[in-house]
Amino acid sequence: MHRVVVVQDALGPLEPLLPVFARAGFAPPVFRESIAQVVEDARKGDVALIVLPMRLLQGHGRFEFEAMLRDAPAVASIGTAPSADAEAILVGMRAGIGEFLVSPPSPTDLEVALLHLRRKWGATGIRGSLTAVYAPKGGVGATTVAVNTAYALATRRPDARVVLVDLNVGLGDIDTHLNLPHNYDLGDLVRKLDQADADLLHAIVTPFGDGLFALPACDDLEVADQVQADAVTRVLSVCRTSFQHTVVDCEHAFGPRTVAALDAAESIVMVLQSNVAAIRAAKRSLALFRQLDYPTEKIVVVLNREGPGDVLSYADIAKSLGVPVSLRLPNAFQLANEAQTRGVPIAKAAPTAPLSLAFNTLATRVVGEVAVVDRPEAADGKRRGLFGLRRK
Ligand SMILES: Nc1ncnc2c1ncn2[C@@H]1O[C@H](COP(=O)(O)OP(=O)(O)OP(=O)(O)O)[C@@H](O)[C@H]1O
Ligand SMILES: [Mg+2]
Repeated sequence: MHRVVVVQDALGPLEPLLPVFARAGFAPPVFRESIAQVVEDARKGDVALIVLPMRLLQGHGRFEFEAMLRDAPAVASIGTAPSADAEAILVGMRAGIGEFLVSPPSPTDLEVALLHLRRKWGATGIRGSLTAVYAPKGGVGATTVAVNTAYALATRRPDARVVLVDLNVGLGDIDTHLNLPHNYDLGDLVRKLDQADADLLHAIVTPFGDGLFALPACDDLEVADQVQADAVTRVLSVCRTSFQHTVVDCEHAFGPRTVAALDAAESIVMVLQSNVAAIRAAKRSLALFRQLDYPTEKIVVVLNREGPGDVLSYADIAKSLGVPVSLRLPNAFQLANEAQTRGVPIAKAAPTAPLSLAFNTLATRVVGEVAVVDRPEAADGKRRGLFGLRRK
């Protein structure tokens, strides 16, 4: 684990920030009273990150600190101040401070700062899992399943970061489900596709908190044209190198964008409800999945909104589909509605509700017990293409 040193009251109350440090691979912070003590820590070489109040850089401590940062280029630093005072920020930048935060920072602000600095402590690329949530019929709960599975993956391990990608170009709504004002979206990444890497992705995703990040769909129809299969493949590949888990809310249309996401995923969660239209559409999709040579264990069939009024039981549905129903999610209209109105995941609104527990089960079903799944893509072999997509 990396070591972070916090000087005086630089971060305010630490309790809400501890999970953020844990996700970035840090042990709980140690406290120091003066720059002199921090300089001593850095000399011993056992500190990866220093967080200090900018006001300490106003005296001659600044020169001592500057010299220390020069001698230990691998040490990352964050300066804090009660307000974003331009003068203080400038002094910090001159001293070599890497990031600035208004104190006390929110967990999400700290999370973003740690993402920006992560190269300093040698965070390397990973190969995370990729789950595509797909419903061939609209309105059956695909976005609800995507949002809540992503949240379950983010909260079940303290060190996991999860990104939820909305591929519903022009019609995205994960930002509504999570009540997430955002400055950037998928279009911003696609516009700079040739430069798309972990750094750009980290600058574009919006943190929700609890380790969950969102990449909302773009509304700009000019960019929408550029969001084609190869762009989707590239974006998802970058997501995998930066997040332990990526969950994709796919479009209902079975177009090239959707197939690119389904191809790249190692699990496809196919959502349906107990009605004839949804079951028919699911049957057609299963036939297409067979055409695409997806192994049956790649498909996780989820029956959503199961309830006592259902005309067809899950056993009838499984028989009609010719594949088992992997998971049944109970109908919880009031809870789902309340969570959506508040803009929070269902498990955040009601952690012990049967529907919340079912999403946890689904999370385990799609990625197994391990946080990072590393499966070679070679298995996708010489498959037949749809939409002229070339497979490698
Ligand atoms: N298990 C559930 N119990 C009760 N209501 C649910 C459940 N799952 C989803 N819903 C509700 O169903 C509605 C549709 O859900 P959602 O937006 O997730 O579907 P979708 O398939 O993504 O739809 P769209 O076609 O807009 O993409 C929402 O109002 C949601 O709250
Ligand atoms: Mg949706």
